Amino acid sequence: MVDERDQDTSSSSLPSLSKQLAGTTLGGSANVPVVDLSVSDEEFLVREVVKASEEWGIFQVVNHGIPTELMQQLQVAGKQFFDLPETEKEAVAKEGGFEGYKRNYLGGIDNWDEHLFHRLSPPSIINYKYWPKNPPQYREVTEEYTKHIKRLTEMILGWLSEGLDLPRVALTQSIGDDTAEYALRINFYPPTKHSELTIGAAAHSDMGAIALLVPNEVPGLQAFKDEQWFDLNYINSAVVVILGDQLMRITNGRFKNVFHRAKSDRERVRISWPIFVAPRDDMSIGPLPELTGDDNPPKFETLLYKDYIDKKIKGWALEGLHSLLKTPKTI
Ligand code: OGA
Ligand code: NI
Repeated sequence: MVDERDQDTSSSSLPSLSKQLAGTTLGGSANVPVVDLSVSDEEFLVREVVKASEEWGIFQVVNHGIPTELMQQLQVAGKQFFDLPETEKEAVAKEGGFEGYKRNYLGGIDNWDEHLFHRLSPPSIINYKYWPKNPPQYREVTEEYTKHIKRLTEMILGWLSEGLDLPRVALTQSIGDDTAEYALRINFYPPTKHSELTIGAAAHSDMGAIALLVPNEVPGLQAFKDEQWFDLNYINSAVVVILGDQLMRITNGRFKNVFHRAKSDRERVRISWPIFVAPRDDMSIGPLPELTGDDNPPKFETLLYKDYIDKKIKGWALEGLHSLLKTPKTI
């Protein structure tokens, strides 16, 4: 699995600036949906998550069964890592690959963060070299959290499958069952006085299938819908579910791959813990035959996941080139 937001951060490898700045008004009336997973009416739940996936491609879940204490431990461990002196963080620094720690304060207004990225599952792809040894509880907490995230991801994919009139396992199978790759990125966004600009994470959709994210209490994540940006309300212990490009492609466009971005705060450190779920590189991904037909032809070509990634990154390069040629220098 690649760390998509750690591509070359020159302007030629990101969605064009015009796309990132599109529709700068913040929405007021509508809100990113919140789904309570503790309701006993499962059909209702299925309708809720499907509606949120069709209309928004992002929603928050509460009462999801992950112990609050474990979520707190994950956050404490992450914060303790980023609070270490630079030289200690460098112990797990990236070495040309995607895994490891990196300071990323060179991207101008596009990306401004420190982050740690490493794989979590399946066990065969884990490289503990990039997991911090300090704080000492990091590994145990992260492994425990991963188990819960995997269970929650499969539950959500199960409901989404049922809502599409498919067997419960359909979407999990479509991304390779237990071969699907889980990876954690801890984003650390220091305070910045320029937070009216999109410093932090530039607008993007996630390349994989689905991501489950927990933020610290500092708001900043925004979702794009109907040409507007919407702030996500912070809900203690909620998990944010973000649908990526592959679920859109697998469902032939029924589910949205939400365009989202993260702003940093003027005063406080913002940290977020997304776990990305994606198929293996050599898995072939395209619209499920059950979801296409004469009246609904495939809208996307079936591609190996690695070829999809190549195409997307090349697409950014082209877009960047266009915007460099078109955008006045003052922006
Ligand atoms: C990401 C992402 C948002 C955030 O890492 O892909 O969208 O809130 N992060 O940090
Ligand atoms: Ni993202």
